[in-house]
Amino acid sequence: MKISTFMLLLTVMLLALSHVSAIAEDDAREQHVKKTYIIHMDKSEMPASFEDDRFQWYDSSLKSVSDSADMLYAYKTIFHGFATRLTAEEAGLLEKQSGILSVLPERRYELHTTRTPEFLGLGKSEALLPATDKASDLIIGVVDTGVWPEIKSYDDTGLAAVPSGWKGVCEEGTNFNSSSCNRKLIGARFFSKGYEAAFGPIDVKTESKSPRDDDGHGTHTSSTAAGSAVSGASLFGYASGTARGMAPQARVATYKACWLGGCFGSDIIAAMEKAIEDGVNVLSLSIGGPLTDYYKDTVAIGAFSAVAQGILVSCSAGNGGPEAGSLSNVAPWITTVGAGTLDRDFPAFVSLGSAKKFRGISLYGGTSLSGGLLPLVHARDASNSSDGELCAPESLIPAKVAGKIVVCDRGGTPRAQKSLVVKQAGGLGMILTNTDDYGEELVADAYLLPAAAVGAIAGAAIKSYIASDSNPTATIALGDTELGVQPSPVVASFSSRGPNLFTPEILKPDLIAPGVNILAGWTGAVGPTGLDEDKRRVDFNIISGTSMSCPHVSGLAALVKAAHPEWSPAAIKSALMTTSYTAYKTGETIIDVATGNTATPFDYGAGHVDPVAALDPGLVYDNAVEDYFSFLCALNYSSSQIKLTTHKDFTCDTSKKYSLRDFNYPSFAVPLETSSGKGGRTGASTTVKYTRTLTNVGTPGTYEVSVSSQAPSVKISVEPQSLTFSQAYEKKTYTVTFVAGSSPSGTNSFARLAWSDGKHTVGSPIAFSWN
Ligand SMILES: *[C@@H]1O[C@H](CO)[C@@H](O)[C@H](O)[C@H]1NC(C)=O
Ligand SMILES: *[C@@H]1O[C@H](CO)[C@@H](O)[C@H](O)[C@H]1NC(C)=O
Ligand SMILES: *[C@@H]1O[C@H](CO)[C@@H](O)[C@H](O)[C@H]1NC(C)=O
Repeated sequence: MKISTFMLLLTVMLLALSHVSAIAEDDAREQHVKKTYIIHMDKSEMPASFEDDRFQWYDSSLKSVSDSADMLYAYKTIFHGFATRLTAEEAGLLEKQSGILSVLPERRYELHTTRTPEFLGLGKSEALLPATDKASDLIIGVVDTGVWPEIKSYDDTGLAAVPSGWKGVCEEGTNFNSSSCNRKLIGARFFSKGYEAAFGPIDVKTESKSPRDDDGHGTHTSSTAAGSAVSGASLFGYASGTARGMAPQARVATYKACWLGGCFGSDIIAAMEKAIEDGVNVLSLSIGGPLTDYYKDTVAIGAFSAVAQGILVSCSAGNGGPEAGSLSNVAPWITTVGAGTLDRDFPAFVSLGSAKKFRGISLYGGTSLSGGLLPLVHARDASNSSDGELCAPESLIPAKVAGKIVVCDRGGTPRAQKSLVVKQAGGLGMILTNTDDYGEELVADAYLLPAAAVGAIAGAAIKSYIASDSNPTATIALGDTELGVQPSPVVASFSSRGPNLFTPEILKPDLIAPGVNILAGWTGAVGPTGLDEDKRRVDFNIISGTSMSCPHVSGLAALVKAAHPEWSPAAIKSALMTTSYTAYKTGETIIDVATGNTATPFDYGAGHVDPVAALDPGLVYDNAVEDYFSFLCALNYSSSQIKLTTHKDFTCDTSKKYSLRDFNYPSFAVPLETSSGKGGRTGASTTVKYTRTLTNVGTPGTYEVSVSSQAPSVKISVEPQSLTFSQAYEKKTYTVTFVAGSSPSGTNSFARLAWSDGKHTVGSPIAFSWN
């Protein structure tokens, strides 16, 4: 998810929608209001007479409850079923029909570089990377807002013919035809039926009814994953250099399911289904919704089918941080990506009349403020609004702002929009101050007037200067892009955090990757801020969010897949996780910018991705599809819930003891109960055992375990302590026993377990949380 304008616009829209539905709920006619439902059908109950035409079976079921309902989509790959508009009453009737597994109301989802290849160590390690021809066989499918095909990131110079077996197409539509695709952008489709059913027909004067990207988000994510190298890329001169995706030889296929008004479940599942049928190797989804049971979550269901067919699915963790438990996309078959910073900065300097100076950040494209010190005003003192400091639209009193630099707080409304509000009120500059929630995290924006964003400490100092001086003044100077900024990476405050409140035994996010101030391709339909008033047009834009970190991992997963075509999605995820790093070269643990303190596995998962190391992990924690069934059995899912999630018939073996603790995940989350009762607690301490199986994907050798712990109240022992692998793909199992003393509810502590043969380190984080 991109955290700038798009998400905030969505939030506004969601608020508007919930207002409408609140009225509707009071209304006796609610029963007659049609909504989109996704219907899963049980093919095993299909009467033989329909064998030749499944759609007729779907249709006859639908017609039995509604004469007027049209089928929006018929599904067959991810599950058997369809999407349609029904009243609540019709939905209730349909649910009772034979052959119907479930009738689920559609859910809404939100959309959650030059420097990155070097930062990730890819620049100097080309020799280690898989040969070009292997990477160019791989196809990354991106479910997003579409693509702006004219930018150079989709230049196909030097690429061989489209991989054989590819079944995708280049769908025609508004300003988009088959010549929009090439050997880089090999597929482009759009899915608008759910969106149009909810909002009415797309007005092609304002929005392209085609794979064309009118937002920018999809162009940015797909060019981050697999954009071709473009020299001389920059945003207004910032971050200049060669921009390229993580897998510059891989192919891109875009599946547009997100529109200016949002993303709908029926469109997303149709997009994922087509991507699977077309033959993508990696699926990248920088979108998410609120957590719900896996069998109700469109993205989780689609991802299961994809993973079962060998497609790695990488998703954004969400931008709900720094709040604990703010994750999206927590299914264990998904690779869930949080965000960290790069070692790149776009400095801007604020000087006060008191001679104090503060360093901030800016992507303003014009020149610095001239004319020396200007009057400085706190927006709160220039507004009638109770939250005037937020600089919301039309909240500033022009007479109090004209000719001045205005201090606005981050939060509430899009950051770049605040600069527009100040400009429209006659202000000359803006200082955007972090509140404590954002700490020292600086997210850069392409402001519409000279502006600098500063951290919470500088923000407090600037406000106290304004309060103490009868005639406060300031100026803003813009600096040049700086590289090599340390420490880096730090965990972004917006990056969603664990614990995983939904399945506490699975640690999420899985890992972090660059997601702050990322330069990648942009749409020609809107300016870099996405605001209507922003008439600037750019080929590249710098934006932030876990939406940006997700496609980094999608591209890197394609590189690992190119080097090891036979590896499962779980093996590739394991390689990315167990080789990721949690400390700087100095040995100090990665910092969480929200607090300024060391981050934990709830912030970064297994750590920050290290793609070169991931190519040679030594050992992996692999999962076959059966392991996911055991996981669902351990959740006590019924056969029909398992079928809804997986599209497979599976009955849990009642004689078998399934445990979430034995699910072969590359990390450990250990929820513990404070009070007696649950969690196997006996007497003063709780003993829990976790079992894991490692597969040798390197040379034969002996690995020794080591555990480093910052959890004084937990005794950790591993059995056996040494594992010898004599051949490739040999598997060895070990058990970790945790003997945990009681800690106050809400306590978290952490440890790390690593297997090493002297060449490889196979690291896993351990997170304890007392409930
Ligand atoms: C496709 O679009 C391009 C550029 O807009 C245009 O030049 C070309 O004629 C179109 N081709 C077809 C088949 O419509
Ligand atoms: C603020 O309040 C003053 C006094 O009530 C009023 O004159 C002015 O129009 C208001 N300005 C805005 C922007 O609401
Ligand atoms: C599943 O059911 C068993 C037996 O009732 C129970 O012990 C266990 O806690 C349940 N697991 C979950 C994840 O709800």
